[in-house]
Amino acid sequence: MKHEPVLLDKVLEYLTPSRKDGTLVDATVGLGGHAEALLEKHPDARLIGIDRDPEALERSRQRLSRFGDRVTLVRGRHESLIDILKQSGTEAISGLLADLGVSSMQLDDPSRGFSFRFDAPLDMRMGAEGRTAADLVRELDEYELMRILRDYGEEPMARRIARAIVEARTEAPIETTSRLAEIIRGVKRARYGEIDPSTLTFQALRIATNEELIGLDRFVDDAVSVLESGARVAIVSFHSLEDRIVKRAFRRLEGECTCPPGMPVCGCGAKAIVEIVTNRPLTASEEEETRNPRSRSAKLRVAEKL
Ligand SMILES: C[S@@+](CC[C@H](N)C(=O)[O-])C[C@H]1O[C@@H](n2cnc3c(N)ncnc32)[C@H](O)[C@@H]1O
Repeated sequence: MKHEPVLLDKVLEYLTPSRKDGTLVDATVGLGGHAEALLEKHPDARLIGIDRDPEALERSRQRLSRFGDRVTLVRGRHESLIDILKQSGTEAISGLLADLGVSSMQLDDPSRGFSFRFDAPLDMRMGAEGRTAADLVRELDEYELMRILRDYGEEPMARRIARAIVEARTEAPIETTSRLAEIIRGVKRARYGEIDPSTLTFQALRIATNEELIGLDRFVDDAVSVLESGARVAIVSFHSLEDRIVKRAFRRLEGECTCPPGMPVCGCGAKAIVEIVTNRPLTASEEEETRNPRSRSAKLRVAEKL
């Protein structure tokens, strides 16, 4: 199945570069779908594509090879944006896209352990480094597991699932996706028409394993700091936790006062650096949702540097 980038028409419409011959950054280049369309639409622009996943980078390298030296691909985390740009000698950019989270390739690869649909080692790492989900499930205490399931999965049964995990691991290590899914099923029944009982726990462990929310707020600041005046940052998120961080960061950068209520004089130094272009997040059309069910939870927010 051909990979389809989410909200592509809206990304192309809203991510208008501040200069025709400037540098665009795709901070999560993935399989290169958005990057390819941006390079086609802006024939004089260069593009720096970043991804932490070596397999994804290899796929985008092949897909984008026809653009030659207009493209630079860098393996790394977008949290290191400033260093990555310094290393490539880029001081300012004309637009930045971040399509956050996990790619369809990662989710659909049975061996990577992202999904309860396939039996696989409980890995869930987007890059090759760091602790796996199995490491977290083995090492964290019951309270920390509960907190991850509650905060990153918004799982209403976080406490009971965390307890069941801790009990089950005294019998045998939890090393596969299917063993974890089975433990969850022991606590939470599958109900017809509802999401699989494992969905929220798997989402939470994936976010924790990849530290997906840590540093997102600072990444938005860093992205805005390197935009040229008139350049835009466009961020696609897939769950409410990410979207909330992006929304708040944009509001703060638009100069919203963040002092506690009742302060007689503003002390937070709020100053407008961007103008928010999308007051409400843009979402997929019904037609896109039908064609590509993953687009259902996608939200695009865009801000422009003043
Ligand atoms: C939704 S996919 C992007 C798909 C891409 N827009 C396309 O059209 O093919 C997200 C990608 O971001 C990468 N990623 C996630 N977190 C990252 C981070 N902190 N730094 C760099 N890449 C990251 C993942 O490895 C994945 O390939």
